[in-house]
Amino acid sequence: MFPLPMTNQPHVSIVGATGAVGREMLVCLEERNFPLSHLTLLASARSAGQNLTFRGEEITIKELTADSFAGIDIALFSAGGEISLKYGPIAAKAGCVVIDNSSAFRMDEGVPLVIPEINPDAARNHPRNIIANPNCSTIITLMGLAPLHKAFGLRGIIASTYQAVSGSGAQGIAELDAQIKALTNGNPIEKKVYPHQIAHNVIPHVDAFEDSGYTKEEQKMLHEGRKILDLPGLKVTCTCVRVPVMRSHSISLTAIFEKKPTVSEAHAALSNCPGLRLVDDPFRSLYPVPLDTTGKDDCLVGRVREDQVLSNALALWVVGDQVKKGAALNAVQIAEIL
Ligand code: A2P
Repeated sequence: MFPLPMTNQPHVSIVGATGAVGREMLVCLEERNFPLSHLTLLASARSAGQNLTFRGEEITIKELTADSFAGIDIALFSAGGEISLKYGPIAAKAGCVVIDNSSAFRMDEGVPLVIPEINPDAARNHPRNIIANPNCSTIITLMGLAPLHKAFGLRGIIASTYQAVSGSGAQGIAELDAQIKALTNGNPIEKKVYPHQIAHNVIPHVDAFEDSGYTKEEQKMLHEGRKILDLPGLKVTCTCVRVPVMRSHSISLTAIFEKKPTVSEAHAALSNCPGLRLVDDPFRSLYPVPLDTTGKDDCLVGRVREDQVLSNALALWVVGDQVKKGAALNAVQIAEIL
C-alpha cells in the first residue's frame, strides 16, 4: 500500500470524465467540497481538448495514456472494464489509489469492495492499491438490506430489478431519449445499445447471459453481496430488467432472515440509517419511486411487509439514483475514507 500524503491535499483524477458517471463524479466532488489540490480529467482522444467546469473553473480534458498517472494520488475510474483492466494496474503501480467503478477487479483477492455506510473499514486495507466500487444494483439493494441484516441476520435474497438506462452509460440515456422523440414524431426508432426498443418497453436482459440462464448482472448480486456483507453462505436469486427510466434503479426484494422480523421492528431497523430514508405510508400513496431519488444522494426504502410464502421473510422495495449512490457518489465516499 502506498500511503497518501498526510500534509497536502490529494491530486485527484477522473478517468472517463465525459461519461454519465464521470460527469456525476465531478458534481459529487464539488457538492461535497472534497479536499483536493488538483483535479485531472482524462477521457479518450475524442474528448481531449474539450473543457468541463469544476468549482467555476474550466478544466481541459486530457487523453488517457500510460503516462497519465505521475503525481496523481487518487484516480476515480469509470471508463469501462477494458480501460480499467489496462490502465488500473498502471495507475496503481505509479503510486495512485484506484477507485474502480467497473467489474474488472471486484471479486479479486486483495481488492476491497466497499459501500461506505456498510463496510468502510475494508477501504483502509488495499494492498494492490485498487478499491472496487460495487455494481449499482448491489449497492442500492444492500443499502436497504444491511440494516435489516444487522437486526435479523440475512440468509437469502430473491430480487427483481427495474434498472434505468443510465446503467448503460451516456449512450443508454441518449438511446431512450432519441426513441421517445422518434415515437412522438412518428419517425422510425434506432436500436444501438439494447437488443429491443427500450422506449415503452421492459427488457429482461442486463449484461451477457451465462450457461446457467442467469445474466452476469444477476450473478453480481450474489457474489458481491457475499463479499461486502462477509456472508459466504448468502443465497441469492435475481432477475435483472431494463426499464425506460432515465437514471434511478428500483429493486423489489424478498429477504429471508435468521430471526423472524415484524414490520414494526423492520421499520425501526430502517430508521435513522445514514444514506437511507424510510418512505412507507402506502395508504397515502407514499412509497419510493425512481423520480424521487433522481439527482439525490439518499436511497429510499418502503413497501415493507411480511412475506406470505416464506417464513422469517420480508418483502420490500428499495430505490436509488444509479448514477449517484449506484456509482459516482459511492466512489467519492470511498475517496473520502482515504
Ligand atoms: P469519451 O467521451 O472521450 O469517449 P459512458 O459509460 O457514459 O459511456 O462513459 C464512458 C467514458 O469512458 C467516457 O468518458 C469515455 O470518453 C471514456 N472512454 C471510452 N473509451 C476510452 C478510451 N479508449 N480511453 C479513455 N477513455 C475512454
